[in-house]
Amino acid sequence: MTSTAPRLLVTGGAGFIGSAYVRMLLGPEGPGDIAVTVLDKLTYAGSLGNLEPLLGDPRLEFVRGDVCAPGLVGRLAAGHDGIVHFAAESHVDRSIDGGTGFARTNALGTQTLLDAAVRHGVRTFVHVSTDEVYGSIDRGSWTEDQPLAPNSPYAASKAAADLLVLAAHRTHGLDARITRCSNNYGPRQFPEKIVPLFVTRLLDGHDVPLYGDGACVRDWLHVDDHCRGIELVRTQGRPGRAYHLGGGTELTNEELTGLLLDACGAGRERVRHVPDRKGHDRRYSLDWTRARDELGYRPRTGFAAGLAATVAWYRENRSWWEPLPR
Ligand SMILES: NC(=O)c1ccc[n+]([C@@H]2O[C@H](COP(=O)([O-])OP(=O)(O)OC[C@H]3O[C@@H](n4cnc5c(N)ncnc54)[C@H](O)[C@@H]3O)[C@@H](O)[C@H]2O)c1
Repeated sequence: MTSTAPRLLVTGGAGFIGSAYVRMLLGPEGPGDIAVTVLDKLTYAGSLGNLEPLLGDPRLEFVRGDVCAPGLVGRLAAGHDGIVHFAAESHVDRSIDGGTGFARTNALGTQTLLDAAVRHGVRTFVHVSTDEVYGSIDRGSWTEDQPLAPNSPYAASKAAADLLVLAAHRTHGLDARITRCSNNYGPRQFPEKIVPLFVTRLLDGHDVPLYGDGACVRDWLHVDDHCRGIELVRTQGRPGRAYHLGGGTELTNEELTGLLLDACGAGRERVRHVPDRKGHDRRYSLDWTRARDELGYRPRTGFAAGLAATVAWYRENRSWWEPLPR
């Protein structure tokens, strides 16, 4: 690393997607000459183990801390050229049980980072958001101009953050960009989300809880494709713009469950139907023409191969998930 290497602050870099992004940045696909600081509180969802192969890399610094702490965030922002903001409370079911932590981290934490970015002249701010900010759509796909209409406390806190990011751009001229992606899957996802929850339960011989009629539709995006898309937005995106990063594989939860049962060699009798999630959005669907045409974004991982590799990873890495609650 040279002293002139760009310095990037990655919040939430010990979580599922953030750690994949840091591995990509510091791996062969990354820019090479870059210094990365991860700021992560290490909540239940974060683990230093997710960064393990990189912890001796002189280009990486890890700081345990809270994105809502203005002193710490200000000191860090002062030494960085860019911020990529992943840190969030990310699980919808937990937000239904209690939304305060979501409002705090996702909205207040984002504003704390924005204030620091403006004050210290951070050049680029990338905010990682979600398709859930738009609510639910029965047919067709949302473009980035769709008004936000979130339903869950999680989605509402992410929508609040998106609006704060746009406000910082319009008010202060901060070069801020937003990514909104569909459902991610891949290795190292905390086993509370459907793919790792079902896979780890099936590998342990348990049943799997399928919400309601199983007919909710989600679009699936491999985490590595998501990270490549974020990097395109960081390096080539336009200030003040949102970009959709979709995967291209829409499945009902029931269809996904069938694929997971097959991949784990389990029969249909392992499915337990449970009452639907409160306010469950029926379908999300992103039109990602803008990212494709402006940035050349295109997911590379076919869903069948990506899912098989993901299931294989959980099979081979029991020590990562066995201690975690499922
Ligand atoms: N997983 C998905 O399918 C998905 C889809 C769309 C958008 N997103 C967004 O992508 C981002 C990353 O999601 P993920 O699935 O990797 O989440 P995750 O829950 O796996 O990781 C979140 C990380 O943020 C850290 N964190 C939480 N609160 C913090 C705080 N106050 N200060 C500092 N660090 C804190 C956690 O320790 C953890 O490492 C989130 O912003 C999420 O909203 C995720």
